Parts: sequence; C-alpha cells; structure tokens
Amino acid sequence: MNDKHAAARLRTTLVERLRLIGSVRTEAVAHAMSEVPRELFTPGSTSLTEAYRDRVVVLSVDERGLPDSTVSQPAMVALMLEQLAVRPGMRVLEIGTGSGYNAALLATLVGPTGEVVSIEVSAELAGAAARRLAGLGVRVDVRAGDGWEGVADRAPFDRIEATVGVPDLPPAWVEQLAPDGVLVTPMWLRPGLELAIAWERAPDGTLTSVSVTRCGFLQLRGPHAGPGRTHALTGDLAVIGEDLPPAALDVLRELLDHGAVDAGPVLGPVDTRLTGFALAEPRSVLFLGHPGDGTTWGLFDPKLPALAVLMRDRILVYGDRDAAVELYYGVAGAPVVNAERLRVEAVPVGTNFPAAPASAGRSWTVERDHHHYRLTEI
Ligand SMILES: C[S@@+](CC[C@H](N)C(=O)[O-])C[C@H]1O[C@@H](n2cnc3c(N)ncnc32)[C@H](O)[C@@H]1O
Repeated sequence: MNDKHAAARLRTTLVERLRLIGSVRTEAVAHAMSEVPRELFTPGSTSLTEAYRDRVVVLSVDERGLPDSTVSQPAMVALMLEQLAVRPGMRVLEIGTGSGYNAALLATLVGPTGEVVSIEVSAELAGAAARRLAGLGVRVDVRAGDGWEGVADRAPFDRIEATVGVPDLPPAWVEQLAPDGVLVTPMWLRPGLELAIAWERAPDGTLTSVSVTRCGFLQLRGPHAGPGRTHALTGDLAVIGEDLPPAALDVLRELLDHGAVDAGPVLGPVDTRLTGFALAEPRSVLFLGHPGDGTTWGLFDPKLPALAVLMRDRILVYGDRDAAVELYYGVAGAPVVNAERLRVEAVPVGTNFPAAPASAGRSWTVERDHHHYRLTEI
C-alpha cells in the first residue's frame, strides 16, 4: 500500500474515532477532515502514524525550549469547527495560522464561493504555511502580523476563529464580526479554567456564548500578550495565577523557601469543586511541579503574606495560617461546576450586564481590561 492510500485509511479511522468521542458531529466537518491530508502540515520528522494520532504536534519552540506553535489536537480542531458552524460561501478569519492545517479545513468548509483569511504572528510560519497551502491549491489569504488587530481590510467576517488563547476579547475581533456572525475563541478565565467559547453579539454589544467546551491552548504572543499567567518560580516549579506581578512572585518564592506547616485535612472530595473554587476566589493559584505531587491548587495572598496549598487530602500552609482556613472553607463551600453548562456573557468595560433572568443559576464575574465576563450556571 502506498503512502497516499495509507494516509487516507488513517484519516478515515481518525474521523470515525472523533465521531465516536463526539468531537465530529456534522457531515460537513467529517468531510473536511477526511479531505485535508494532516501529514502534509506536520514537520517532516513526523511519521504518518503520528500525524494521525489524536495528539498535538509541535511546530516550533521558543528560546526556553517551550512550544510556541503547534498543529492542534484533531479532537479540539473538530470541536471548535463544530462550534464555528461554517457554511459554504462564508468569509472566515482565522487567528493563528500555524501550519495552515485548520485554514485548509476552513477553506474546504467555505468552498469555492467563500473566503478564508488567516493571520500568524511569526513571519516565518506564515510564509511556510502560505507556500504549503498554495502548493496544495488551497485558496487562503495568509497574512503575517499581530492577530490581536484582526484583519480590518477584509472585515466584516461571518466567522472568526482564534486558534490561540486570550485572557480578554480583543476589541478588533468584536468590531470585525458581521452582525449575525460567530466568534470562537479559547479563553483563559481562571487557573485551570480555559474554555473554547462560541460567541454571538447582540445589537447592544453584549456577547453571549452559544456553546462552551473545556480546552487548553497556547497563549497569544506579541505586543498584546500581556503579563502572561504562567510564571517560573524555581527549578521546574511554575505557578499559574490571575494577578502575579514580579513583587508578588518574590513574596511567593520567599514563602516557599521558609517551608510549610501541615494545617490538617481538607473536607470531602476536592477535585470536583476546584472549578467552583477558582471562579469564586481570584487569589486561587495552580502549581505545576512540586509543592505536592504534579499539579497542586492553592490560595496565595501576598498581602498576608501566605500561601496554602492542597497536598492530596491535606492543607499545607506557608506564612500566615489564616490562608489555610480560607482555603479550607473556600474549597469545602465551593459548588460542583460543570464548565460545559456555563453561559458566558461579555460586556465592554464601562457597560452593565443585561438583567439576569429570574431563573438564572449561580453566577461569577471575571474582570479584564477590555471586557467584563459573567459566567452563569444553566
Ligand atoms: C495552536 S497554534 C495554531 C494551530 C494552527 N491553526 C494549525 O492549524 O496549525 C497557535 C498559533 O498562534 C500563533 N500566534 C500566537 N500569537 C499570535 C498573534 N498575536 N497573532 C497571530 N498569531 C499568533 C502562534 O505562533 C501559533 O502558530
């Protein structure tokens, strides 16, 4: 069997698997994923079998050796295309061209009467993707530049899809969306809470989610990257938190140096309540590496100063012991939140949220520079 046939078989198997796990839901997405040869978008060192695993493939790494561009996991690619609901003839903008694989899928979905524009911050990647797509006869207008600004000279777009995560919606994306358009973007909302959200915009400018799914994405780079939410501490230890300027990180390092006291057991099962805890508590932090085993949650207050962390079924406290009490009650009292059953609304800073219906469930707000977000259980 030659490589082309082998690839076609692997592609069919992958699409069937994605249907079974619920990532592929429509014939349009199944067809696009069955047509576009993913192996032509992965680096030359990737075997055919690897190209068709349901895995992320790294395209490039930064100076620290961490991935800064990847060909996303097929299950996530499919889920986001389902959220986007592209129809033939539409004009679509993609932010984060990477390899060009998703742009090729979008081009298949819009068909010969539609248009795809894709923007990539790395000029090198943009050039390689443009050549790859042109070589395959796929019509995509690839731009090199900062996707934060969108692509104003081709707006408005029926669909906008970001394949890179943001902590806040860039105003340009909202402005460049057609009145009945859909915007899909991965959003970092709290430690451990990153959601791919499909947004629709009401005439009053409020954006409301039409679907929400958990995801994990590389974060936006370039001039609008912001301070980042993941910070290296010492050795292989990193911390993810909402507002951790350098002075707060120094306090954290000092606390860790002084060592912890065992503050006793936590109450009841913890894992299911961490999303609820993170939503209610802006001081929640997530550690990668030790302290604890692997991923550890905690509460860090640089003003006390104190850090309390969950260590399996116990709480360790560094500094002021009040933090242990707050973590204990914060987690014990947190509701079990199903992220997929959240409605998310976004309003530009300076405007109010629409009145919540009387039947609305619990809700939380997250405040960012350009928009405020309200997450409500449905
Ligand atoms: C997960 S990868 C995208 C995968 C891609 N859609 C594909 O099919 O191969 C995220 C991409 O976003 C790009 N990116 C990061 N910040 C960006 C920005 N400000 N503007 C445009 N692209 C950006 C990265 O360089 C990376 O290539």
